[in-house]
Amino acid sequence: MPFEQAGIYMIKEVFYMEEQLKQLEQEALAKIEAAANLKELNDVRVAYLGKKGPITDLLKGMGKLSAEERPKMGALVNTVRENVTAVLETKATVLEEAAIAEKLASESIDVTLPGRAIKVGNRHPLTRVIEEIEDLFVGMGYEIAEGPEVEKDYYNFEALNLPKGHPARDMQDSFYISEEILLRTHTSPVQARTMEAKKGESIRIICPGKVFRRDNDDATHSHQFMQIEGLVIGENIRMSDLKGTLDTLAKKMFGADREIRLRPSFFPFTEPSVEMDISCFKCGGAGCNVCKGTGWIEILGAGMVHPNVLEMAGYDPKKVSGFAFGIGAERIAMLKYGVDDIRHFYTSDTRFLSQFERTEA
Ligand code: PHE
Repeated sequence: MPFEQAGIYMIKEVFYMEEQLKQLEQEALAKIEAAANLKELNDVRVAYLGKKGPITDLLKGMGKLSAEERPKMGALVNTVRENVTAVLETKATVLEEAAIAEKLASESIDVTLPGRAIKVGNRHPLTRVIEEIEDLFVGMGYEIAEGPEVEKDYYNFEALNLPKGHPARDMQDSFYISEEILLRTHTSPVQARTMEAKKGESIRIICPGKVFRRDNDDATHSHQFMQIEGLVIGENIRMSDLKGTLDTLAKKMFGADREIRLRPSFFPFTEPSVEMDISCFKCGGAGCNVCKGTGWIEILGAGMVHPNVLEMAGYDPKKVSGFAFGIGAERIAMLKYGVDDIRHFYTSDTRFLSQFERTEA
């Protein structure tokens, strides 16, 4: 082939390849634009840039070109390839972001849904009884006093007119830790401590707390239980004040039509001492199973503070007087709620405890 002819042929070839390239580029860009997802986009990549794609074919055809045209054509092919690759990558990013956004939207959690209710506990029946009694007395100007559960023999017994070897100590069989230290058998030591601390001032306190006595546990006995004791000291405190106070307590806890009666009793720390009964809240006094046919229910012990107790704490029994009373919280709760076994209070059986739940609408 003469040189000129060959040259013309060459020019034609180059022109033809350029045209083809532009067309391929336009096609590829249009398909990239149209790709709806990453899979379709990848198909476009394989189709146009892959080893078996038309651009690779074109490169293979460059053998026909002159040494002069070849690098120009090569550069052109690379530019097209780079351009297509760049547009492809941009589109890939757009599609990836769209895919993530779609996934997030489909998996999103509706945080406006109301949560599942968490079951909350309720107040223990003993706590309820104690707080009710506390509220009553706080309303009458009493203070709440607390003291140690591990107590000195002195405050638990001696300061309460129960010297060592006193036979009445047998009424409160005790857990001794040493000769001088024991688990308190009643909350009266808090009264002895308060009297000592107040140094002759008048007193109006209520002492709730745990107490311990050696006992064989059964339906009505427990080696640990709760007491609430009260103490009032001042000038001219009389038995009638005690009676009025206990009457208020009985009516508050068991109903406004309750009557009380006081029977003589004995406690070493009070003189005179009494036992208080209330008229039966179930039968009103006629006799039933709750009051064992008597019409009366025994509730608590009380009395006028013994002069020895006042004196030991630094009070002058000729100038001041006082009264004290002691209630078992379990006994009150058992009567009030009809509980037949004291052990229910301590075993944390939720079937028992949930009976005292209060539901709120
Ligand atoms: N402390 C006495 C007891 O536990 C109860 C009581 C208190 C009696 C106060 C009289 C006065 O048995």
